[in-house]
Amino acid sequence: MAIISPSILSADFCRLEEDCRLVLDAGAQMLHFDVMDGHFVPNISFGVPVLASLHRGMPSAFFDVHLMISHPLDYVDAFAGAGAGLINFHLESEDDPGDVLHAIRAAGCKAGMTIKPDTPAGYLSTWLDQLDLVLVMSVEPGFGGQKFQSSALRKLEALKAARKARGLDFLLEVDGGVNAGTAPFCVEAGADILVAGSAIFSAADPAAAVGALASL
Ligand code: DX5
Ligand code: ZN
Repeated sequence: MAIISPSILSADFCRLEEDCRLVLDAGAQMLHFDVMDGHFVPNISFGVPVLASLHRGMPSAFFDVHLMISHPLDYVDAFAGAGAGLINFHLESEDDPGDVLHAIRAAGCKAGMTIKPDTPAGYLSTWLDQLDLVLVMSVEPGFGGQKFQSSALRKLEALKAARKARGLDFLLEVDGGVNAGTAPFCVEAGADILVAGSAIFSAADPAAAVGALASL
């Protein structure tokens, strides 16, 4: 069974709480919260006040926060305070990864490191023993609804092998273009957590879409 983290970037923001509750009730274990700064990626999404409101409305929901921002270090405390359960930041951001990890731990959150499609999995090697999760992007970050890049599969396999060889226990998450067609390959390659936005919220029956992905 895969863990499902629906990306609420594709939800209907007029009924955001309702959409969140729908996917959680359907079996999603967490909510994927995509933060974009218009600098690290060419798009702007939502930030701390939105997370704070959702956390207030749904205090038991686990928020998997994906920071697609140039300076994660400046915002770790704010997102942790707003209710993040896990904070993913990009290895390609402009801050020192060790400093960001330290800040995430100090703030009491789980820590995830994320790589874009052009970044080799090997670049994560020195950080793996400090991580709760590795997020492998299977599209260029910035927009929902893009086509899955299968190069992510080789990275998942390599990271799964490294995890075993080194006796580590971080989770492997994949994000971008994950749907009923691509998800089985992701699970086969080692993904523990599937992020899906459009495949869930644009489906005629989002709850059924969660169920179908979770059954993999
Ligand atoms: C892309 C985001 C993804 C996005 C996934 O930059 O990180 O989480 O919402 O959307 P889909 O599942 O539609 O590719
Ligand atoms: Zn994401």
